Amino acid sequence: MRTQIAIIGSGPSGLLLGQLLTEAGIDNVILDRVGKDYILGRVRAGVLEEGTVGLLDEAKAGARLHAEGLPHDGFSLAFDGRDHRIDLHGLSGGKRVTVYGQTEVTRDLMERREISGAPTVYEAANVQPHDFDGHSPYVSYEKDGVTHRIDCDFIAGCDGFHGVSRKAVPQKSIRTFEKVYPFGWLGILADVPPVNHELIYANHPRGFALCSMRSASRSRYYIQCSLDEKIEDWSDERFWDELRRRLPVHHAEALSTGPSFEKSIAPLRSFVAEPMRFGRLFLVGDAAHIVPPTGAKGLNLAASDVHYLFSGLVEHYQDHSNTGIDAYSARALARVWKAVRFSWWMTTMMHRFPDTSDFDQKIQEAELDYLVHSRAASTALAENYVGLAY
Ligand code: APR
Ligand code: PHB
Repeated sequence: MRTQIAIIGSGPSGLLLGQLLTEAGIDNVILDRVGKDYILGRVRAGVLEEGTVGLLDEAKAGARLHAEGLPHDGFSLAFDGRDHRIDLHGLSGGKRVTVYGQTEVTRDLMERREISGAPTVYEAANVQPHDFDGHSPYVSYEKDGVTHRIDCDFIAGCDGFHGVSRKAVPQKSIRTFEKVYPFGWLGILADVPPVNHELIYANHPRGFALCSMRSASRSRYYIQCSLDEKIEDWSDERFWDELRRRLPVHHAEALSTGPSFEKSIAPLRSFVAEPMRFGRLFLVGDAAHIVPPTGAKGLNLAASDVHYLFSGLVEHYQDHSNTGIDAYSARALARVWKAVRFSWWMTTMMHRFPDTSDFDQKIQEAELDYLVHSRAASTALAENYVGLAY
């Protein structure tokens, strides 16, 4: 089999790239080691920047997002028992974010791909990129006991943090940067109305909490927890009690509770691999970088990587120019590092670090006080949260 672009990974990165390429008439095949249902069973963040929404529209996968997504003009920071609203729309020159679960983004992209008829191979075992440092790369995989080969012009490694693409790069050719945070997020989904019409990021002496949502009837909540917590030790009742204790009283009293249908603990890390291109292999999305979810940047960074790579590939095929693909890594990393910085900053400002010094705790409190009383500081927060320009 031959194609122009072999895409490893059918998550948001691979599906969005695949759909944009298909719309542009550039042949591509997506391979994933698991099936659709497994991918759709993953619960991820759900705050979309306008750039991400625009790319989904370009991929003709934005209809349900516009019908069901929740436009948000601001969010609140809660500390010392009070709310402080950050007016994203006012401070960012009219921009906003859209709350719409990543699972739904993935579902919409999968549906578009099915309609387009572009090939996707699910449950492809032992996917391997080959000869990407030459001119004739190919991908091999096993399915139903048969080994297959897909010859291609380029390989897009959209296979996430634990994927095969980054690991296929010789260690001498890649640099990685990592910071692991000394806590995790315990998150639940419950079919109860959100406590607030906008998101609430809370900094409390007992730890961070986040009040988010998926719709007017489905809430998403998180509390910071230690890394040795066990999910089986957290009944719904214990979770709701702890969440109430970390929110301002008026929110705690208004909180609607009910049975959770999803509960999980996720570790937090910052990670970047440089460069993001190795000959004819490009790393995209979580394959190249991970951010703590505090800034809601994971999906949005995957989208901006796709934007840079897609535009470079269109230039290659339509204008016979390699300027875009040659610039891909530098352009993507410039935006990645700014989002990594912002996500680190939000995480450091909003969480309680074990064994933090009294001095560092006072600095955190001063940071929050300055942030909510300075238009310049709030403007900087707003422009990063709504998403920096591509
Ligand atoms: N072979 C084939 N497919 C693989 C392999 C492999 N060896 N390893 C991983 N995959 C697939 C996974 O099954 C998954 O479907 O690659 C896909 C990677 O998807 P994501 O991990 O979602 O990464 P990405 O598409 O870049 O999306 C980033 O997802 O994890 C969130 O917070 C993250 O919001 C961000 C977004
Ligand atoms: C979510 O809704 O899951 C969510 C929202 C904002 C974040 C992280 C997660 O910063």
